Amino acid sequence: MVESEDFKSKITVYVVVCWILAAFGGLMFGYDIGISGGVTAMDDFLIKFFPEVYKRKLHAREDNYCKYDNQILQLFTSSLYLAALFASFVASKVCTKFGRKPTILVASSFFLAGAGISSGALNIWMLIIGRILLGIGVGFGNEAVPLFLSEIAPVQHRGAVNILFQLFVTIGIFFANLVNYGTAKLHPHGWRVSLALAGVPAIFLFIGSIVITETPTSLIERGNEVAGHKALKKIRGVEDVNAEYEQIKLASDIARQVKHPFKELMKRSSMPPLIIGVLLQVFQQFTGINAIMFYAPVLFQTVGFKNDASLLSSVITGTVNVLSTLVSIYAVDKVGRRKLLLQACVQMFISQSTIGGMLLVHLKATSNTLTTTQAGFVVFLVCLFVMAFAWSWGPLGWLIPSETFPLETRTAGFAFAVSSNMFFTFLIAQAFLSMMCHMRAYIFFFFAGWILVMGLFALFLLPETKGVPIDVMVERVWKKHPVWKRFMDD
Ligand code: BGC
Repeated sequence: MVESEDFKSKITVYVVVCWILAAFGGLMFGYDIGISGGVTAMDDFLIKFFPEVYKRKLHAREDNYCKYDNQILQLFTSSLYLAALFASFVASKVCTKFGRKPTILVASSFFLAGAGISSGALNIWMLIIGRILLGIGVGFGNEAVPLFLSEIAPVQHRGAVNILFQLFVTIGIFFANLVNYGTAKLHPHGWRVSLALAGVPAIFLFIGSIVITETPTSLIERGNEVAGHKALKKIRGVEDVNAEYEQIKLASDIARQVKHPFKELMKRSSMPPLIIGVLLQVFQQFTGINAIMFYAPVLFQTVGFKNDASLLSSVITGTVNVLSTLVSIYAVDKVGRRKLLLQACVQMFISQSTIGGMLLVHLKATSNTLTTTQAGFVVFLVCLFVMAFAWSWGPLGWLIPSETFPLETRTAGFAFAVSSNMFFTFLIAQAFLSMMCHMRAYIFFFFAGWILVMGLFALFLLPETKGVPIDVMVERVWKKHPVWKRFMDD
C-alpha cells in the first residue's frame, strides 16, 4: 500500500490562489453571522421594520433582559440557517453529481441575489426573502468549500488548509462588525450599506468559482480520469503524481460501489464517526458562541453600553476571534485535538459561569445597568470565552468530521455535520433573545452546564486523530477505542 507520505507536491501559487478564493465561502458565512446583530441594534432599521421592538427599547429601564425579545426580529436572524439546513442536502447531491466548482458558483450566485434583495428591502418580507437566498448560498458554500479545500490540500497540510475555512469565517464576522461600527453612524440607510456589502466577498467568490480548478477527486469520481490526472499535476506542481492518483482512483472505485451513501451511513459501523461529527457540531452551538456572535451588540447594550460602545465591543471580540483561530492553525497538529478541546472547556466554563454570576448579582431586571467597570469586566470575560472557542470547538467542529469518515460515507456524513450545525445555529438564533428574557442571567449557567457535558464527551468518547492518516482511521482509531470498537464489525 502506498503511504500518504510518498505523495509528492509543491505548494504552488495556483493552489494557494485556489485555497484563498474558495475560502471566501467561509468569509460569506462569517459576514452573514456577524452582520445581523449590529443591524438589529440600529434604530433606523428597527423603526422601519420592527417599530414595536423600537418602542420597547425606548423603555429599556422597564426590563433589562427583555427589551429585544421579538419572534419576527429573531426570524430575521435565524431564517438564513433554516434555509441553509435544507439547502445543504440539495448541495451534497449537486456536489456529487456536478462537482465542487459548480456548487461554489451556485453558492456565490445566491449570495449576490440575497445581498441585493435584502439591502434594497422595502418591507419585512423582502428582508426575509433576502436572508433565505443568503441561507441557500451558505448551505451550498458550507457543503462544497470545506470539501474542496480538503480535496485539493496536500495530505500533510490538510488540517491547516481546512482551518483556513474557519479563519475566513472569523474574518467575515470581524469585517461585518467593523462595517456595522461605521454604518451605524449613517442615517437613515446605514443598515442598507451593511447588508449590501455582503456583495463584495460574494463577487470574489463568484470570480473564484470560475478561476479555481475542479478537484481531482470529483473529476475522477465522475469518470473524467484524464482531466483528473491533469488537474492533480497542476495543483501539486510536480510531474509524478501517479501514487496519489492511484489512491484517489482506488478510493473512488470503492466509493462508486456504494450506491446509497446515506443508507450506508445508517449502518452500525458508520455510527462512531457519524455520532462524533454530529455531536461536535451540536456541542459547538451549545457553547453559546452564536449568542455572542449574533447578539453581541444587543448583549452589550443589555449590560449597559450605549449603541456605539456596544458595537465597538463586538469589534473587540471579533479581533480576538480571528487572532485565536491562528493559534489553532499553529497548535492543532502539535498538541492534538483532544487537549485543545478539553482546555477550552475549562476556560469557557469559567467565563460563562462568571458572567452568569455577575449578572445575577448586579443586573436586576428592572433596576439600573452595570457600572462601567463591571460592564468592562463582562467584555473581558466574553473575550476569554471567544478566545477558547476559536482555538478549539470552532475549527475542530469542521475539521474532525472531515477526517474521521471513510471515503464511501465522507460526503454524506459531512452533509449531516453541516446540517446539524445549521439546525442548532437556527435554534440558538431563534431562541436566544426569548431565552434571555425568560431565564435572565441563568442563560449563562445553561451554557456553562452544556460545556461541562461536552468536556466529559471529549474526555471519554472523543478519540485523538492527530497524525493518523485518514485511510487507517478505522483500524488505528475506531477499532482500538474502548467504546467505539463495539460498533466495528469485522
Ligand atoms: C461556527 C459558527 C460560529 C463561528 C464563530 C463557526 O465554526 O460554525 O456558528 O459563529 O464559528 O467564529
